Amino acid sequence: MTGRLDGKVALITGAASGIGLGTLERFVAEGARVVAADVQDDKGVQLQARFPDKVVYVRCDVTLETDIAAAVAKATDAFGGLDVLFNNAGHGGTPGGVTDMTAEGFDAAFSLLVRGPMLGMKHAVPPMQARGGGAIINTASIAGLQAGYGPLAYSTAKAAVIHLSRCAAAELAPQRIRVNAICPGLIATSIFGASMGMAREVADQFAARVQEIAPKFQPIPKAGMPADIAGAATFLASDDGAFVTGTHIVVDGGITIGPRSAWDVDAPSPLLEALGITREQAEQMRQMALAQGR
Ligand SMILES: NC(=O)c1ccc[n+]([C@@H]2O[C@H](COP(=O)([O-])OP(=O)(O)OC[C@H]3O[C@@H](n4cnc5c(N)ncnc54)[C@H](O)[C@@H]3O)[C@@H](O)[C@H]2O)c1
Repeated sequence: MTGRLDGKVALITGAASGIGLGTLERFVAEGARVVAADVQDDKGVQLQARFPDKVVYVRCDVTLETDIAAAVAKATDAFGGLDVLFNNAGHGGTPGGVTDMTAEGFDAAFSLLVRGPMLGMKHAVPPMQARGGGAIINTASIAGLQAGYGPLAYSTAKAAVIHLSRCAAAELAPQRIRVNAICPGLIATSIFGASMGMAREVADQFAARVQEIAPKFQPIPKAGMPADIAGAATFLASDDGAFVTGTHIVVDGGITIGPRSAWDVDAPSPLLEALGITREQAEQMRQMALAQGR
């Protein structure tokens, strides 16, 4: 189905790569016009050339409020208004835990991942009010729901994004501006390489390596791809999501269902191991219980 975003204008941060790029492609296919905001100018300019009249690129470092304000203004200048904001730009953030965290590193993660979306909303609200409403989507992460999926600063920032979305939704609902978060699981993008300090081109190639290993990472045995997140973003941006606000949608192929042993018969079960029972013994006991009608 196409045309779900006919007539809508969207601003996507982090639009030059990965989830932002996949969502831009989907939004355009659904009829939207898009301001693509990023710091990768070469890719942004290519995007604009690829989608003439549909996409405008603007250099926007989301850690700078002036850049964010200019990106929002670009939506009105180029396309006459703003209906959808996808606060998506991101990076794995500062590595390290409690004992080796630097104040600067922690601030940098929050500046990019939390303050950026906050300021994006601040500047997007007036043009959305002028249109009578809008949809804001913030990219959080399963790392914001459970420990162990990212470094401390990143994970804490992503948890903040989920709650930021709720608080903003409460404030903005009377103005018919909906705010929701998406929590991706493992999605094959450049973020892993970029966060390990690889040059962008190398990080882009590394995304293909992530795609190879990704099918084994979660219950649904396929690699999570930017298009999977774009589907959820399209739902939230479109009128299909008209009654959805203040929540988060987990798009993770089921990885947060439970421990690996819940869905992978080859994975060791911590409970059985602690009890000293092998998988085979457990299966024999299960068969006996079934045969006895228990
Ligand atoms: N890939 C995953 O597995 C995954 C999982 C959960 C959440 N996420 C989140 O998804 C979002 C998109 O990441 P991705 O996986 O597509 O990575 P990606 O590296 O492919 O894309 C991130 C984009 O953000 C841009 N960016 C980085 N810093 C910026 C800044 N200061 N200002 C403007 N743009 C900036 C980059 O240039 C890049 O184009 C991030 O918020 C990330 O935390 C990703």
